[in-house]
Amino acid sequence: MTSSTLESSVDAGSFLFGFSFYNKTTSPFHPSLFPFAKPPSVTKADLTGKTGIVLGANTGLGFEATKHFARMNPGWLILACRSQSKGLAALEQVKADTGFKNAELWITDLSDFASAKSFADKFEQDGGRLDVLVENAGLAPTAYEASKTA
Ligand SMILES: NC(=O)c1ccc[n+]([C@@H]2O[C@H](COP(=O)([O-])OP(=O)(O)OC[C@H]3O[C@@H](n4cnc5c(N)ncnc54)[C@H](OP(=O)(O)O)[C@@H]3O)[C@@H](O)[C@H]2O)c1
Repeated sequence: MTSSTLESSVDAGSFLFGFSFYNKTTSPFHPSLFPFAKPPSVTKADLTGKTGIVLGANTGLGFEATKHFARMNPGWLILACRSQSKGLAALEQVKADTGFKNAELWITDLSDFASAKSFADKFEQDGGRLDVLVENAGLAPTAYEASKTA
């Protein structure tokens, strides 16, 4: 998903059905048809000295959010991903697209309580103050799957 489709899908899709469906070439629901549903413009702030974490940062909304925060120049931005290879690729892409250098990849699998806890413990030890947390990671599985509890 690109920044422009992200904004467009939020515009019409989330207003009507609560999910993203807008496709520039095929959808009749162009956002311009719904001026009353226009979201406010994207906010920017100076995040100098602030620390942020984006969960599920390697793709989709999390990836776009990560680049958005990177452009606001935080002191430290952590991409929290469950896959080392996908996370590293995203980290490099964020750096290339934004020029932001203070981003780091941390690995965590939120379906595994031990992994989530060790991520939080590591942040408490190394991270200090947390200013921005984007709890984006998630999926909609079609079949029941148990989380690891120990
Ligand atoms: N897109 C929409 O229209 C929409 C609408 C309503 C709600 N949402 C919610 O918004 C969030 C992001 O949506 P999206 O479309 O950007 O999803 P997406 O492209 O599928 O990305 C989901 C991200 O979460 C990560 N993730 C999934 N399970 C994880 C786990 N157990 N531990 C750590 N990371 C995990 C994925 O990692 P991998 O790449 O390794 O799988 C990926 O980085 C999701 O929670 C989704 O349910 C989305």
